[in-house]
Amino acid sequence: AALIDRVPFFKGAKRRSVEEIILALKPRVAVPGEVLFRVGDPADALYIIQHGTIEILSTTDEVIATLRTGDFFGEMALLDQTPRNATVRAIDYCDLFLLGRDEFARTLDRYPDFADHIREIAAARKTRNAPDPLSNQTTFAPSSEIV
Ligand code: CMP
Repeated sequence: AALIDRVPFFKGAKRRSVEEIILALKPRVAVPGEVLFRVGDPADALYIIQHGTIEILSTTDEVIATLRTGDFFGEMALLDQTPRNATVRAIDYCDLFLLGRDEFARTLDRYPDFADHIREIAAARKTRNAPDPLSNQTTFAPSSEIV
């Protein structure tokens, strides 16, 4: 039950639906440094961090985000039916819960409020990853560095 209160994934969902989803979760552990999946991999599940820290890495292995206890990841590829958009690596020992692709799809169908919540978070993450049109300016060396 504590999971329900801790995990933003479940925020806004009705208690009954959360309890049903929890029944479909599969536990998995990860060790420090373990790569859970890589950018381009096929997607088979959504992950919820019950405990621990993971890093989201870009195609060039730069850290895009750090996610912690209560966060979730792996929703983008499932929502868009694409391969993984980023690589995910465990930073410390992690207790994770997996929601399989089919259960995830069923959950979205059955609980539209919940689906909206997940889609909003995915959209916000995508916006953050999208290249900033003004950021080209920073690729020019400051004059002090020109020799
Ligand atoms: P997916 O593309 O399935 O696999 C990689 C995951 O990294 C992606 O889903 C998101 O869950 C997560 N992710 C990508 N970009 C960000 C970001 N900017 N902030 C947090 N999580 C992200």
